[in-house]
Amino acid sequence: MRESEYIQNTPISHRKDYGQFFTPQLVSRLMAQWVLRDEPETVLDPAFGLGVFYDEMMKLKPNNQSQFIGYEIDKNIFSYLHELNKQTNLNLYNSDYLETEPSQYDAIICNPPYMRFQKFLNRHDVLPIIEKQIGKKLIGYSNISSVFLVKALNELKENGNLAFIMPFEFFNTGYGKEIKKSLLDNYLLKQIIIFSNEKEIFPDATTTVCVLLCKKDRIKEPIKITQIESGDNLVQISDISEYYQKIIDVSDLPFSKKWTPILMSLFSDKVVPKDFVRLSVYGSFTRGIATGANEFFALSKGKIIKLGLDDKSICKCLTKSSQIRQPVFTEEDFTNLYDLEKPVHCLNITFSESQETQEYIKQGEAFGYHERYLTRTRTPWYKIESRKPAPILFGVFNRGRLKVIRNLTNAINFTCFHCFYPNRFGEPLINKLFVYFLSDIGQEIIKLNKRSYGDSLDKFEPGDLNESLCPNQSQFGLISEKEAERVIEIAKNDEKEAVDRSNALIERIVNAQQVTAAIMDKHFSDQEKSMGRMGSS
Ligand SMILES: C[S@@+](CC[C@H](N)C(=O)[O-])C[C@H]1O[C@@H](n2cnc3c(N)ncnc32)[C@H](O)[C@@H]1O
Repeated sequence: MRESEYIQNTPISHRKDYGQFFTPQLVSRLMAQWVLRDEPETVLDPAFGLGVFYDEMMKLKPNNQSQFIGYEIDKNIFSYLHELNKQTNLNLYNSDYLETEPSQYDAIICNPPYMRFQKFLNRHDVLPIIEKQIGKKLIGYSNISSVFLVKALNELKENGNLAFIMPFEFFNTGYGKEIKKSLLDNYLLKQIIIFSNEKEIFPDATTTVCVLLCKKDRIKEPIKITQIESGDNLVQISDISEYYQKIIDVSDLPFSKKWTPILMSLFSDKVVPKDFVRLSVYGSFTRGIATGANEFFALSKGKIIKLGLDDKSICKCLTKSSQIRQPVFTEEDFTNLYDLEKPVHCLNITFSESQETQEYIKQGEAFGYHERYLTRTRTPWYKIESRKPAPILFGVFNRGRLKVIRNLTNAINFTCFHCFYPNRFGEPLINKLFVYFLSDIGQEIIKLNKRSYGDSLDKFEPGDLNESLCPNQSQFGLISEKEAERVIEIAKNDEKEAVDRSNALIERIVNAQQVTAAIMDKHFSDQEKSMGRMGSS
């Protein structure tokens, strides 16, 4: 009720500035169950918002004896809380939680604001205060949610329970490492809840999130992993601590590693074959060219002719993801797009500008393109990064299958694709690498490194792709170059058949690996047996 009224009356920009995204009722119920389980005397909500957690805790245990404490920085949202302010078991403060004196609570429940720390207005004032409170430097804590978590963990009493929503990215980024370390070293983390169909459960969320359930009991025990599949699934859970599909040992979640692939692999039936190597052994993925003004730099045939631009001022360039529909992109495909007036060239001034080019640059300046965020940092503003065409391209956003393309043209590309540039080890394997990327096994293994989780739209950063695993050189030796070339030929017209062929080729590698592993196992067990015989004789 409060929420719909608030959302109606408040501009989205205001909500964004304060990180006001509200916890769905069913998720807050699970979190409330966790924090109320040991009859806490005091319960803190450091980012109160409209009080969904308080409401839920009161619904769950109407006669509880707890005293609730809430902080909320925003005057505007606070003014919607006058009814709640009358509750005798609730102390609400219209102030910045990060600036509060440290205190101790039996339970803490929180959905913190998640935004870049740089956007947080008081950041210069609060950081030294918190560092002093926790006795640690907060270097690299680039998301405000992590600062909330660090302070809250510090304020949790012995045996206290804490439930926190966190952006999923904290599992993988640098700033998450220190917190992950402290969650593990102190055996605080008991359960991680992830959502496989996030858009249904968190319809407003713009960031993928997870819920952390912690208890400060210093007991070393495996961490429970819960995957929630749907809203219906949520309704049925009566005790979240008993609802989990997997457990993972603390030692299998190293703080220095990205946790997303580890967690994802628990729910994937694809086991990454042993001896696979990082893709970075063969080269690296890089972002495509960021122009800062695609509408100016991208050029179609008609525009090139009209402007009279010469060959020295332009080059072939894929400017939109939709320009490629098949896994292989040929010169013929390029010419078709060009004739169809698609913008498949870009302004690329390598030598001196012709009169016509100078004219076009002037036109661009008249439109203010030279004053854009990116263009104004370049000298001259219209000179884009110099790039070679990449032989393999990857879609940045992918729904379902990953968009992988064997680029047989000399077209470069904008940021709509990530570009794979092979090194001297990858160069001779480029076709085989493509076959691997195209295969179902390759796709599953690469997806283990995806950034977002849950929403069907997956985003990959070049770094994620570089860390994904693929066959080593001798494993690739099990496929012949001819076989890989054949897949590429077929993929020009028939993607499905090409995927089937890729699957067969990559399964050959995986099966060979399994046979080798079985032989090795047998070898070692025979050896052990004979050592045993020797020992007993
Ligand atoms: C993600 S919302 C969560 C609100 C509510 N707890 C819920 O789960 O629906 C975060 C709330 O924290 C408030 N907030 C942001 N920075 C804060 C700060 N430094 N101290 C206290 N509250 C803050 C925001 O105004 C917002 O209402």
